Amino acid sequence: MTSQHNIKTLILAAGNGKRMGSARPKVLHPIAQFPMIGHTLKLAYEISGQVACVLNPDHVEVVEFVKEFFPKTKIFFQKNPQGTAHAVSQAMSFFDGKAEEHISVIYGDTPLLQKETIKLLLNQLQEDVMSVLGFRPANPGAYGRLITSSQGLEKIVEAKDASKEDLAQDLCNSGVMAFRGDFLTEALPKVGNKNASKEYYLTDLVEIARKKKEMVGLSECHPEQVEGVNTLKELARVEGVFQKNARDRLLSSGVQMQAPETVFLSHDTKLEPGVCVGPYVVFGPGVHVKEGTVIEAFSHLQGTSLGPENAVGPFTRLRPGTVTEAKVKLGNFVEVKKSCIGAGSKVNHLSYVGDAEVGAGVNLGAGTITCNYDGEKKHPTHIEDGAFIGSNVSLVAPVTVGEKATVGAGSVITKSVAPGALSLERSPQQTYPEKSNRLKAS
Ligand code: UD1
Ligand code: CA
Repeated sequence: MTSQHNIKTLILAAGNGKRMGSARPKVLHPIAQFPMIGHTLKLAYEISGQVACVLNPDHVEVVEFVKEFFPKTKIFFQKNPQGTAHAVSQAMSFFDGKAEEHISVIYGDTPLLQKETIKLLLNQLQEDVMSVLGFRPANPGAYGRLITSSQGLEKIVEAKDASKEDLAQDLCNSGVMAFRGDFLTEALPKVGNKNASKEYYLTDLVEIARKKKEMVGLSECHPEQVEGVNTLKELARVEGVFQKNARDRLLSSGVQMQAPETVFLSHDTKLEPGVCVGPYVVFGPGVHVKEGTVIEAFSHLQGTSLGPENAVGPFTRLRPGTVTEAKVKLGNFVEVKKSCIGAGSKVNHLSYVGDAEVGAGVNLGAGTITCNYDGEKKHPTHIEDGAFIGSNVSLVAPVTVGEKATVGAGSVITKSVAPGALSLERSPQQTYPEKSNRLKAS
């Protein structure tokens, strides 16, 4: 593959995916909190600048997803899916039909595919008009079988159309193929639908190439990369593989995990080397953690950016919009939402901090609550550098606690506290000697 080649990627995702037994279009089912088709699109953009999708116009949410997250993608519609070759033929205007044009076609239901694997296929187009990615699954079942001779790949036979002899082959079609633009545009109209499913099979292009005495390239990859997702059971299995791969990558990059098999990651989780993650920690989308931060067991983080050397957990819930600076401590049963917390500040126990801006060196005592919601609107709380909030304090927003101010334990603060001031809101304690009802004779 050299730079004079014009690399394009086409993703086929118009099928109905009936076997998922779910009303949601198959390719929107998530792996690591991101739709399957999103994984395929990410990969497509890693190998080429020009990406197109064939979608079903009835799958409105799929169309919206692609437009929102991958706006440069060309979208083609396939109204009545009549097979994979029929799908590609909807996208003919995406191709210019030249020999320098190298096109990879990927199915939208193989989210574990790797960039290097597709590059291998594209490289084969130096000599061959097309190339096919094969694999040997433990159970070849319904996969198309690759029929080879001493000349290489001769044809692909769909399981439904296969003879007993063909079915005995264990080398199967992954669905990933690459084509030279001139061959694809010329050969695609020749595909017919005389087969068990009455569908136009893209896989027929192998036989068409061979009839023209052209060679067809073949590479093989590990089954884990390409086993398609057709059922919810397969979705769960692919999720498991994705998680394991993602954890392994983090471990090798210098992230420490005591029980990696219990940690759940999102497709975009960013943990810097030197981060330490305890057991049973769940990362929702949009988390970035800087070096030296320790996240203890049973914490749940989403849409959060943590500074270096923070100490989080156990049992901490960090919701979208949480941003911390260095050496912040967020302890057990603390929930933070849409708040910034300055360097060295501590929220150690049993707190809710929402819509707040907390400065540096602040201490929020156990049970500090920002009352940010009045039933209609959310309001902000500002706590300036060096402030000290005693235990069990309610800060009724909007409110500001000034620099180095102190708020006494148990207070309900409804008015802002000036810098350096002490503010208390507490009924005086009444004490009646010897009135304890425990003194009554039993
Ligand atoms: C296909 C291959 C089979 C291969 C298997 C690997 C063909 C004819 N068969 O079978 O050889 O072993 O994948 O997983 O290619 N799609 C459309 N429009 C259509 C039909 C399908 O966009 O009209 C899309 C689907 O959304 C899906 C992909 O193409 O992303 C594959 O379709 P699917 O029905 O899953 O094909 P398989 O029967 O699994
Ligand atoms: Ca499939």
